[in-house]
Amino acid sequence: MAANALPLLLLVALLIAPSAHAASCSAADRDALLSIRAALSEDAHLGVFSSWTATTDCCTNWYGVACDPNSGRVAYLSLRGEAEDAVMAPAGHPTSGVMSGYVSDAVCHLDHLSTLVLADWKRITGPIPSCVATSLPFLRVLELPGNALTGDIPASIGTLSRLTVLNLADNQLKGPIPTSITALGSSLKHLDLANNRLTGRVPPDFGNLAMLSRALLARNRLSGPIPPSVASMPRLADLDLSENQLTGSIPAALGSSRVLASLYLGANRISGSVPASLLGNSGLGILNLSRNAVDGAIPDAFTPRSYFTLLDLSRNRLTGAVPRSLATAAYVGHLDLSHNRLCGTIPAGAPFDHLDAASFASNSCLCGGPLGKCT
Ligand SMILES: *[C@@H]1O[C@H](CO)[C@@H](O)[C@H](O)[C@H]1NC(C)=O
Repeated sequence: MAANALPLLLLVALLIAPSAHAASCSAADRDALLSIRAALSEDAHLGVFSSWTATTDCCTNWYGVACDPNSGRVAYLSLRGEAEDAVMAPAGHPTSGVMSGYVSDAVCHLDHLSTLVLADWKRITGPIPSCVATSLPFLRVLELPGNALTGDIPASIGTLSRLTVLNLADNQLKGPIPTSITALGSSLKHLDLANNRLTGRVPPDFGNLAMLSRALLARNRLSGPIPPSVASMPRLADLDLSENQLTGSIPAALGSSRVLASLYLGANRISGSVPASLLGNSGLGILNLSRNAVDGAIPDAFTPRSYFTLLDLSRNRLTGAVPRSLATAAYVGHLDLSHNRLCGTIPAGAPFDHLDAASFASNSCLCGGPLGKCT
C-alpha cells in the first residue's frame, strides 16, 4: 500500500492546500480602500460599505471589490449608484443611491487597479486625483459619471496606455480635453465626456484614436473647428458634439466613413454646407445638424440606400428646394427641415407620406405635401 499511497497523499494535499494563487487582501490595498471609504459618505440606509470590515477579506467579501487571482492585488473597484444588485436594489426595487464626499488620493495606492468605477452618486465632489493618470498603469476602465466632480481632467491621462473606456460624463469638469488623450490610439474605444464645462478645442489629432467607436462630447463649451482628422477614424460609429460652440464647416470626408452610424452636431455655430456624402451614406442612420448656421442647398444626393431614422436639419439657413432624391430614400423616419429658407414644392413619395406640416414649418415658400396645394 505504502508504495502507491505517497503520490495519492501528495495529490490530496495539493488539492486541499490553499491555492498559491488564491487572492487574499493585501494590507496596503485594504488600507487604501478604507481611506477611500472614509472620504465618502453614503445614505445611511444603503449599506454599500457595510461589508467593508477589517475582519473580512477585501478580495472575496467586500461589495464592489475584486482582486486579480495571480497577483492577489485589488484589480476592480466598482460602485454604481444605480445598479440592480442585491445591495442597491433590495427586494428588486432599484434605489437611486446618493453618496457625498470626494475621491481620496488613496485610490492611487491601488496600483494594480484595472477597473475604477464610481458612477451616478450625484454628490461626490472635488477633483479627480491627478495621480490616477500616473499611478495606475493597469487601468483599463475609468468611469466616474453622474457625480459633481470639479477641476480639470488630469493632463497626463494619455499615459494610461491600456485605457479602453473613459467615462466622466455628467459632472462639472472644466478646462480642456487633454491633448495627451490622443496617445491612446491603440486602446481607447469609448470616450464619454458629455455634459461638463469643458472648453478649448477638440484636439486636432483626435483622429489618432484609431480604436475609438463612440466619442460623446456633447453639452460642453468646446470651441474651434471639428478636426478634419475625425473623418479618418476607422471605427468611429457614434460622434456627438451637440450643444457646444464649434465653428467652421463639417469635414466632407466624414461622409465617406463606412462605420459612422450617428452624427450629432446640433446647437453649435457650424457654417458651410451639408456635405452630399453624408446624405448618400447608407450606414448613417442619425444626422442632426439642427440649430447651426449651415447654408446653401440640401444636396440632391439621397439614394435608395439612404436610411435615416432621424434627419434633423432644422433651424439653419438652408435655401433652395427639398431635393427630389429624398423621395427615393429607403426610409426617413423623423425628418425636420423646419425653420430654414427653403422654397418650392415638397416632392411626393413614400418618405413623405407619414410626415406632418411641422417637419416643413417656417420656411420661405414651401408648398405641397402636408403643407397643402401650391397655388
Ligand atoms: C437635434 O439636436 C438638437 C441639439 O442638441 C436638439 O435640441 C434636438 O432635439 C435634436 N433633434 C431631435 C429630433 O432629436
